[in-house]
Amino acid sequence: MKIKSAEFVMSNSDVAKCPSSHLPEYAFIGRSNVGKSSLINMLMQRKNLAKTSGRPGKTQLINHFLVNKNWHLVDLPGYGYAKVSKKSKKTFQKFITEYFKSREQLIMGFVLIDCRHEPQPIDLEFMEWLGENQLPFAIIFTKADKLKPKALERNLKAYQEKMLETWVEMPQYFITSSTNATGRDEVLQYIGQINETLDLS
Ligand code: GTP
Ligand code: MG
Repeated sequence: MKIKSAEFVMSNSDVAKCPSSHLPEYAFIGRSNVGKSSLINMLMQRKNLAKTSGRPGKTQLINHFLVNKNWHLVDLPGYGYAKVSKKSKKTFQKFITEYFKSREQLIMGFVLIDCRHEPQPIDLEFMEWLGENQLPFAIIFTKADKLKPKALERNLKAYQEKMLETWVEMPQYFITSSTNATGRDEVLQYIGQINETLDLS
C-alpha cells in the first residue's frame, strides 16, 4: 500500500469521543517505550506525526491518524509503566481496555513487543485478554536493529515456544525496525489486504 496522506485527527481519553466515522481502524498497543509512536512515524514516513520520547509514558491519550483519507491508525498509551502514579496507571488501563472492547471500528490490534526481551507476563496477559474478548490481533516485534540476526532468531524462537503454551498457533507476526524501516512493506501490505476485503466507500 502506498501512503498518499497521513494526518493527525484528534487525541482524547474518552472512547466515546473518538471519531464517529465508520472508517476501519488499526491500533498499536504495547508496553511503554516499546516503539509504538516511532513505528507509526516509520510506516507513514513522517518524522514527527506521532510524538516519541526516550522516556516511557510519552503517549498518554488515544490518538487518531487518518491515512489515505480512508482508514485510521491509532497510537495508544503504553501499558505497564511503573512510574506513573497508581491512579493514572489505572486510568490508562481502563481506557485502553474500554477502547478495545467498545470501539466497533477497530479491525485489528497490533501488539508491539521489544524483540530484545524474553516474553513478559504483561504482554502475554494482554494477548490472552484480547483472545478471551475475541479481539483480533497481530504481533509486531520492534527494534530489530538492536539485535544481531542470530540473537533475533533465537529470541523469536523462544517467543513462539512461549506462545504455543497458550495458543494453538503463533499469531501473525512482523519483525520491524523504525530506525531502518525493516518490516514497513509487510505491515502496510497486511493492512492493505484487509482493507481490500472491506467496503471503504
Ligand atoms: P510510550 O508512548 O511512552 O508508550 O512509548 P512508545 O511505545 O510510543 O515508544 P516511542 O516510539 O516513543 O519510542 C521509545 C524509544 O525507543 C525512543 O527513544 C525511540 O527512538 C526508540 N525506538 C523506537 N523504535 C525503535 C527502533 O526500531 N530501533 C531503535 N534503535 N530504537 C527505537
Ligand atoms: Mg508513544
